[in-house]
Amino acid sequence: MAVTSTSLASQLSIGLRRSSPKFDSFTSQSLPLTNNTFFDPNLRLSLSSTKPSRTVIAMAGSGKFFVGGNWKCNGTKDSISKLLSDLNSAKLEPDVDVVVAPPFVYIDQVKSSITDRIEISAQNSWVGKGGAFTGEISVEQLKDLGCKWVILGHSERRHVIGEKDEFIGKKAAYALSEGLGVIACIGELLEEREAGKTFDVCFQQLKAYADAVPSWDNIVIAYEPVWAIGTGKVASPEQAQEVHVALRDWLKNNVSAEVASKTRIIYGGSVNGGNSAELAKKEDIDGFLVGGASLKGPEFATIVNSVTSKKVAA
Ligand code: PGA
Repeated sequence: MAVTSTSLASQLSIGLRRSSPKFDSFTSQSLPLTNNTFFDPNLRLSLSSTKPSRTVIAMAGSGKFFVGGNWKCNGTKDSISKLLSDLNSAKLEPDVDVVVAPPFVYIDQVKSSITDRIEISAQNSWVGKGGAFTGEISVEQLKDLGCKWVILGHSERRHVIGEKDEFIGKKAAYALSEGLGVIACIGELLEEREAGKTFDVCFQQLKAYADAVPSWDNIVIAYEPVWAIGTGKVASPEQAQEVHVALRDWLKNNVSAEVASKTRIIYGGSVNGGNSAELAKKEDIDGFLVGGASLKGPEFATIVNSVTSKKVAA
C-alpha cells in the first residue's frame, strides 16, 4: 500500500517501538544460529505474535530509511553514464537517504552528473591523513571530490584484502573526525554461522567500531552476512531481522538507548528488486546496502522505494 510522504515521514520519525518483550538478555547462547536455521519462519514467533493488530510503520529505530548502492569494482565511463541517466530520471520516494558508491576513479564523473538527491560514498578510505601511502586515497581527497560517505569494513576488504577489526575501527574514527559519514559493515562467514557464532562475530566487529568512535551520529551499520554477498542467497527476512534486533540490543546495552534507536541498521547481501519489499517490512531493517542490483538504475529505484512496504497491517 502506498504511503504519502508526509504521513510516512511523520510516522517514521515517531520511531514506533515493538510491543514485544525486551531483549536485554539476548545472547548467542539464548538463540544460537546454526546451519539449519537459514530459513526458519518460526524463529521470532514470540515477537510477531505480540504485535498490535492495526496499521503500523514497521520500524523499531527512529532513523530515516537508507539505501546505498555499492558499485564495487564495476563499470566504465560509458556504462556509468547510462546508469547515471537512469538514476537521474528515476522516481525516488522522498523519505529515503540514497547514496551510491562508485569506484574511486569515477567519483568525479558521477559527482558532476548525478542529481543532488543522491549522495556519494567512497568504498574505502585511508586510516589517517594522506601522504606517502602508495595506492591509497585519503578522506581529505574524498571530501574534495564531494563524497559525503565512506563504506568501511566491507567483507571483501576484511576477507580478501585482510583488514582487521582494529584497523577498520581506526579508519571509521578518522573518517568521522573529518566529517564523512561511515557505512560500517559487519557480518559473519558461512562457517561462523554454521558454528553458531553469528552473534559473537557481529558483536565483536561492532565493538571494534564502538571502541574507536567518539560518536554514532554519523554511522550507519550494514549487516551483511558474507554467505549472502554476491551469491544470490539472500537472508530470509526473519534471519536478517533476528540479527538486526540483536545488534540494536547490543547498542542499547553497550552504547545507549538513544544510539540504539537512532542508528540505522541496514541489510546487505543479494538484495534485489524482488526481495527488498519483504525485507523492508521487518521492523529493525532500516534500509539496504546493495551490490549487484545497484548497477541497474530502475531496479535500484525499486529497492529505494521499498520503503513504502514498511507500512504494513500487523
Ligand atoms: P550484493 O552485494 O548485493 O551483490 O550481494 C552487497 C554488498 O556487498 O554490499
